[in-house]
Amino acid sequence: MRNVQKVISGLCLMFVGGAVYAADASTAGNAHYATCVACHGDNAQGDRAMGAPRLNHLQAVYIDAQLRKFRSGLRGGEGATDAAKQMAAMAAVLPDEQAIADVSAYIASLDSEASAATIEGDVALGGDYYNQFCGACHGAAGVGNPALNSPRLAGSDDWYLEAQIHAFRAGQRGAHADDRTGRQMRAMAAILPNEQAIRDVVAYLHSVSQQD
Ligand code: HEC
Ligand code: HEC
Repeated sequence: MRNVQKVISGLCLMFVGGAVYAADASTAGNAHYATCVACHGDNAQGDRAMGAPRLNHLQAVYIDAQLRKFRSGLRGGEGATDAAKQMAAMAAVLPDEQAIADVSAYIASLDSEASAATIEGDVALGGDYYNQFCGACHGAAGVGNPALNSPRLAGSDDWYLEAQIHAFRAGQRGAHADDRTGRQMRAMAAILPNEQAIRDVVAYLHSVSQQD
């Protein structure tokens, strides 16, 4: 079900977003993905020991946008975490824009079991925070809203969600003057009152990951 939704939103965005997700993405994208396997895993299921997150829950248009940010230094540049800098070096390896589009489409076509929960929190309270502060952009139950550039959060590794919220709050992500969508999210990450609230939201997002 999740994949069907991803494919449908991907198709709609093919024209709106201007990116061309080629029909042969599965072969071209698969070839480009060979350099990513060592960290993100053969199904893009992520590898915590490498600090490399799951990618296969994400919409192609978001993967594409993040790879462009890593390449241009809007993400993973000066002041970023070591993990983001490491990823910026990898994004630079992709040869051109078509390769970015193809590898993004390929990753979005993959699927795997949901990751195990590693963070405890109050799911009900997290759901309240989510509906109050996050759902308007990230959609009901974290499905994402490509029209607002807001990624899918349901299905993401809980440790990665927590790390990114920390990075936004610390100005390690979303601080670049030209990173419009990152700055938008940075302002939102600052709204959560404390560390427990972050864990609660993350626990809620992990719980909705189990439901599709
Ligand atoms: C050396 C290990 C390594 C390799 C190889 C690697 N990555 Fe990553 N990747 C990471 C790490 C670490 C992060 C987390 C960055 C952060 O914490 O901000 C990441 C993050 C990402 C993200 C951001 C996901 C999100 O939810 O915002 C995307 C997209 C991505 N990688 C795609 C790729 C692609 C495509 C390739 C192959 C061309 C690749 N990566 C190769 C380590 C790697
Ligand atoms: C105003 C719209 C908006 C709101 C409200 C919002 N976000 Fe975001 N969020 C975004 C955008 C846009 C991005 C993508 C940022 C980028 O391009 O780097 C994002 C990215 C993220 C990411 C990174 C995901 C990844 O895979 O890298 C996390 C985690 C996140 N948001 C969590 C939250 C949480 C938790 C809340 C509520 C406290 C929230 N967001 C509220 C717009 C929003």
